[in-house]
Amino acid sequence: MREVTTKPRCARAHSNIALIKYWGKRDPGPLNLPAVSSLSISLDALHSTTELIVDDSLSCSEISFFEDGQPRPSSGANTRALAFVDMLRRENNIEGHCRIRSNNNFPTAAGLASSASGFASLVHAFSQAYALAWSSRDQSIWARRGSGSASRSIFGGFARWHRGVKVDGSDSFAEEILAAEHWPLNVVVATTTAAQKKVGSTEGMLRSEQTSPFYRAFIDAQDADMRLAEEAISSRDFSALAQVAEHSCMKMHGLMFASLPPLIYWRGATLDALLRIQELRRSGVPVFFTSDAGPQIKAVCEPGAVKEVEAALSEIPGVLSTTVSSLGPGAHLLPEEFSFSDLVDPAVSP
Ligand code: DP6
Repeated sequence: MREVTTKPRCARAHSNIALIKYWGKRDPGPLNLPAVSSLSISLDALHSTTELIVDDSLSCSEISFFEDGQPRPSSGANTRALAFVDMLRRENNIEGHCRIRSNNNFPTAAGLASSASGFASLVHAFSQAYALAWSSRDQSIWARRGSGSASRSIFGGFARWHRGVKVDGSDSFAEEILAAEHWPLNVVVATTTAAQKKVGSTEGMLRSEQTSPFYRAFIDAQDADMRLAEEAISSRDFSALAQVAEHSCMKMHGLMFASLPPLIYWRGATLDALLRIQELRRSGVPVFFTSDAGPQIKAVCEPGAVKEVEAALSEIPGVLSTTVSSLGPGAHLLPEEFSFSDLVDPAVSP
């Protein structure tokens, strides 16, 4: 008999950025299986905190989202998250319902992997509240079904998400390949707009698969890129990692540009920041760029280069703010004395 608790369970998971990108699905159905393996780093400074309270008096589960303590209007994200919770309940034979609140300390759905940290923290809170005894691998598999990149946010440091080959998805999970301490890199995130993207990743991937002439080439080169990146990480070879990570990013954006209609997630400032980062590296600064399905640029650098990189990116017209992060931990439970309400602006707290 499982010891289900009605006390709030609060979990935190960190956003991650892929150095070797996931773009494309081998099964876009409910199992959400990727066409490629991918590799990411966890970001300490960007996280989602999710509180889950089991409440069997409810006739359906409830979810509300916050950003920096401010409530976000109900949207498609609420429907997607509730459908996910219903799937978790159904497939784990849980009859009752629950109340969920989730806060991002960074802009949502703007290319900063909020779905990764959001679904990973939700899965962790769910497993704890319902005492499901899921291993990290189990959690990664469940989180993948919410959003592919969430499979990686269960882990800290450097994570590899296996594409897998099985139709049931049981071999498509992430794992930590090296801890953050192995190579304490920093990431400077340059935000160029907090606006939500118009085409989400799920839709974008499908469009690329159906229309981009470069899609197949990207998929075919992925295993070689994974090997190069893993070798570079294990030997802490910055220039080798810079080369393969920038190439993976540009190949993904190249195939996005060539989708029909084109997927252009960048702004002018994104490209200016990218060029500035290349200039810095040419002048000897250990830094490289990456960017996801959004207009933000992430500059990955050695700790000694942070100040210079942040100063250079801040000067670029159109860069609204910069955030410095180190590599973060995996999903974890917050102490019982932690109160979600403390995160919420008192003016709006119920
Ligand atoms: C560009 O994980 O958001 O950030 O599985 O459809 O939810 P779904 O996609 P999602 O895609 C992330 C794409 C990316 C690259 C990456 O994180 O690897």
